[in-house]
Amino acid sequence: EPTVGAGSVKQQLSRLVSSSLRATVPEVEVEPMVEVSTKFADYQCNNAMGLWSKIKGSGTSFKNPNAIGQAISKNLPSSDIIESTSVAGPGFVNITLSNRWVAKRIQDMLVNGINTWAPILPVKKAVIDFSSPNIAKEMHVGHLRSTIIGDTLARMFEFSNVDVLRRNHVGDWGTQFGMLIEYLFEKFPNWQEIGSQAIGDLQIFYKASKQRFDSDPEFKARAQQGVVKLQGGEGKYREAWKKICDISRGEFDLVYKRLNVELEEKGESFYNPYIPQVLEELTGKGLIKESEGARVIFIEGHQIPLIVVKSDGGFNYASTDLAALWYRLNVEKAEWIIYVTDVGQQQHFDMFFSAARMAGWLPDPREKKFPRTSHVGFGLVLGSDGKRFRTRSTEVVRLVELLDEAKSRSKSELLQRLTENGKIVDWTEEELEQTSEAVGYGAVKYADLKNNRLTNYTFSFEQMLSDKGNTAVYLQYAHARICSIIRKSNKDVEELKISGAISLDHPDERVLGLYLIRFAEVVEEACTNLLPNVVCEYLYNLSEMFTKFYTNCQVVGSPEETSRLLLCQATAIVMRQCFQLLGITPVYKL
Ligand code: ARG
Repeated sequence: EPTVGAGSVKQQLSRLVSSSLRATVPEVEVEPMVEVSTKFADYQCNNAMGLWSKIKGSGTSFKNPNAIGQAISKNLPSSDIIESTSVAGPGFVNITLSNRWVAKRIQDMLVNGINTWAPILPVKKAVIDFSSPNIAKEMHVGHLRSTIIGDTLARMFEFSNVDVLRRNHVGDWGTQFGMLIEYLFEKFPNWQEIGSQAIGDLQIFYKASKQRFDSDPEFKARAQQGVVKLQGGEGKYREAWKKICDISRGEFDLVYKRLNVELEEKGESFYNPYIPQVLEELTGKGLIKESEGARVIFIEGHQIPLIVVKSDGGFNYASTDLAALWYRLNVEKAEWIIYVTDVGQQQHFDMFFSAARMAGWLPDPREKKFPRTSHVGFGLVLGSDGKRFRTRSTEVVRLVELLDEAKSRSKSELLQRLTENGKIVDWTEEELEQTSEAVGYGAVKYADLKNNRLTNYTFSFEQMLSDKGNTAVYLQYAHARICSIIRKSNKDVEELKISGAISLDHPDERVLGLYLIRFAEVVEEACTNLLPNVVCEYLYNLSEMFTKFYTNCQVVGSPEETSRLLLCQATAIVMRQCFQLLGITPVYKL
């Protein structure tokens, strides 16, 4: 019986290639280069050419890259994984996997669970800083994108056994609070007793207080005094601050609840006490200079310096981020710190990452070492008019309303279809609710995640809720159909996975099997490059490959029924795991 090792297929092959490289060219140290092959084989090793340019003319006995490839192939340790190899042109080693090993790996997953297919990542602890709206300001589509992308990254790392700190870096500190608090006192003399309903919409409250601030110098002065009192810790001001934050938090939580996203809030205020000591360290290292009354860090390659203390003596976004990074590195001991915001903030992140490197907190990024910081930027959400997305005439998009609309649209489509097919009688009201939620919210998430995050995308309910093309709805159908094939077979796959066996004799079975076992390396790639769309692409291709298999290979009633049902089950499990990583609830019946 073949044995199934740890890590993705690529990682396992890399270990074999690594050992071969040590035997082939003991004098040079090289990383194994193993890739999926698109043509002649399943995987390929691409080390020969690079090695040739390193060692030619150094008295090596190899005559050309092809000869190196031959030697790499010959020196591969024997293993159950590889069926055969061949060497092409300038030394590419084509690797064909053993059908028996592929089948064994799939069956092994069925028996021991999909967690055994987790990739091995080079870090144990990561901070993912995402969502991070600002108190009393609008939580806009940009924050929705950050929430969706950040949650998916967190899920992918968690699946890969990384300890993830999901951080909501809420903007809960800053000069706007003086204005908000004074306005609260003025509007609601009994502010201590009132609930969130009394204040109503915080965004409107914010606007009104801003108007007051801009038009009345006396109020403005009071607001500025208010900031000082708040920062000085005066009881009444702290209490009012807390009240405003709590109301905002309640609004954010409605969105998180609908999206089923977990976050731990450590807002900007949390890092405030750490700022002085961090700035002192940076001053000690000679990084902080005076400039036009402010204290700044000059950074190579940037026209303007990074301001860390404003001319009025106050701290800002950058000083808070430096303190937060210090905390994450030294107290939380995170090895990878990931920030999810729109690309508009790229410069801020570039600059403060550089400052952290200048302070010696982080290694040179070219060394590809840890600890590491990454800015996960994303593009805009556009409306059908090609402009920044807004709903109807209101200025901002109410995120909760947006999600509710996705749900109600998916519900009415579901109802219509079930009624037309006479199937409505089979559904309980609860099933209808849950399914339209899973489909509706899933559609919003998938439409966001399937694009490369850096590109802008157009928000369209019609498109995302269509059951054709690369949409969550299509994928939900594909998954539900596999579940129904298994149900209708009247076989117990839980029993078959123990007693039966998988074989991959038909070409479409083999293609599907090979694609299934690529799952781990897909997650690995998505984590390494911080690109959730890689998982979406995989999920979509998998469902297409399944369709091809199902069209060409009879399942129920065929001599290969057991093996093929197990392939159906494996596909359904991998699809569900993809849904899980994307934060989408799968449905079993549609
Ligand atoms: N509150 C900021 C905004 O709404 C995002 C914060 C991102 N995280 C950070 N550590 N800077 O734009």
